[in-house]
Amino acid sequence: MSKIYDSYFYNIKDIDRTDGAYKELEVNQEVPAQKLKIPELLKPDNQTETDTFYTVEARTGETQFLPDKKTKTFGYNANYLGKTIVFENGKNIHINLKNSLPILTTFHWHGLNVSGPIIDGGCHAPVYPGETNHIDFTVDQPAATLWLHAHPCPATAQEVWKGLATMVLIKDKITDQLPIPKEYGIDDIPLILQDRNFHEDNQFNYRKDYDPDGTLGTVPLINGTINPYFEVKTQKVRFRILNGSNRREWRLHFSDDLTFAQIGSDGGLLEEPVYMKKLMITCAERDEVVVDFGNYQPGDQVILYSDKTPILTLKIHNFKKDSDNLPDHLVDIVDHPVTENTKIHEVLMSGMDETVAINGKKFNMQRIDDRQQVGNTEYWDITNNNEVDGGMIHPYHMHGTLFKVVSRNGKAPYPNELGLKDTISVNPNETVRIKVTCPKTGVYMNHCHILEHEDGGMMAQFEVFDPNHPKEYRLMDMNTLMQAFAKELKIPESEVWLGGMDSYEKTNTEM
Ligand code: C2O
Ligand code: CU
Ligand code: CU
Repeated sequence: MSKIYDSYFYNIKDIDRTDGAYKELEVNQEVPAQKLKIPELLKPDNQTETDTFYTVEARTGETQFLPDKKTKTFGYNANYLGKTIVFENGKNIHINLKNSLPILTTFHWHGLNVSGPIIDGGCHAPVYPGETNHIDFTVDQPAATLWLHAHPCPATAQEVWKGLATMVLIKDKITDQLPIPKEYGIDDIPLILQDRNFHEDNQFNYRKDYDPDGTLGTVPLINGTINPYFEVKTQKVRFRILNGSNRREWRLHFSDDLTFAQIGSDGGLLEEPVYMKKLMITCAERDEVVVDFGNYQPGDQVILYSDKTPILTLKIHNFKKDSDNLPDHLVDIVDHPVTENTKIHEVLMSGMDETVAINGKKFNMQRIDDRQQVGNTEYWDITNNNEVDGGMIHPYHMHGTLFKVVSRNGKAPYPNELGLKDTISVNPNETVRIKVTCPKTGVYMNHCHILEHEDGGMMAQFEVFDPNHPKEYRLMDMNTLMQAFAKELKIPESEVWLGGMDSYEKTNTEM
């Protein structure tokens, strides 16, 4: 067998446990063990050989997390989180984006190769309450685990906290033929990791929990389930792990120090499995792992932990012996050579709390901060200049591209980040060089995926341009959005509170 990694790769000094405001996860004692919720698959409205039609509805709901009172939540075609959406590579997709919430939202397809800024669904594409927008695109990327989440700046964090996030799976023929677990809900299991707090009457209270450096909860929610267990009925199980938390890094490991194989990351499968005992996943990242329970007996239990807190119990049942090894080689990943005379784009993530910024500036919807020619492959150097002591890891995300990680402070990337990525953690005092190819023209956002940093202005925009077909974009502006929020909430504009606003006010920056 290949090398087994048994470290998180990250420097202990940089992980969020060392932060003053850090809160450990705790086992909730009020809730008995319950079956892990597996989100249903979203049914298409209609389907032909070549085309698939969906309606994705953002709506309010009530969710029974704790005994007694239900929690008021948001979800996509569901009370909390959403139904899992499946896209097949090559198909033409048509989606009605329906907003049944009382407030505006956007539908951002994180990791999906679609044009910005409208189809991509960032802050420029609000859908107002009671309205339905429509998008069409053709799926053009390998099989992967992506996600959909709300992205109305600066209210992304609070809408996601309420529940607006769901998994999006891309399927393709190559991956369908690989001998890896692929039966959704049976041996191919989504795991959306989140942390929340419950306040009076079992409600969320985002404003009370708000932390400009990222809001933490102490209750682990896995697919919206507290104290979940999953019944293992196959020898191998594939977990598609999504860190859907606002701020928390999850440090995953199993009981008995069980070895598992990471087979995929943000943009799809890795070229080869990476065998490991510990896996840290930062905000917005996806990691697909395969766990082999071959050495366990019916009745055994395997526990998945984050740090010291058990977050999922795996109950072993009878299963058919499966002596196949995972393939040594999974897929080929296209690696574009860097365009000749490429300029090196610089992104400096600086500050903490309210002072967070990119290249010294806070996000401005009307400003384009960088440009790259469509189809070119260029280096982007992403630097986190936080101090090693007292700094934090910033998970850097780009819309409009799946990139390759080239180096960390000039050294090789971690072995599990050699696949396609859309989010990469950058340690304090580190520069991560990535190689970026953008297949579609448009305006896209790049930002820290700690949602409160994003709302607080650690975000920028870049245009992917075609020199032969220059385009003009009508970009959204903050006034329009604030007026809309005020109207929807039926309060004066001066009373509107959205998480990230504080960071602009306290640093005297125009939104
Ligand atoms: Cu998950 Cu701007 O994105
Ligand atoms: Cu995104
Ligand atoms: Cu950050």
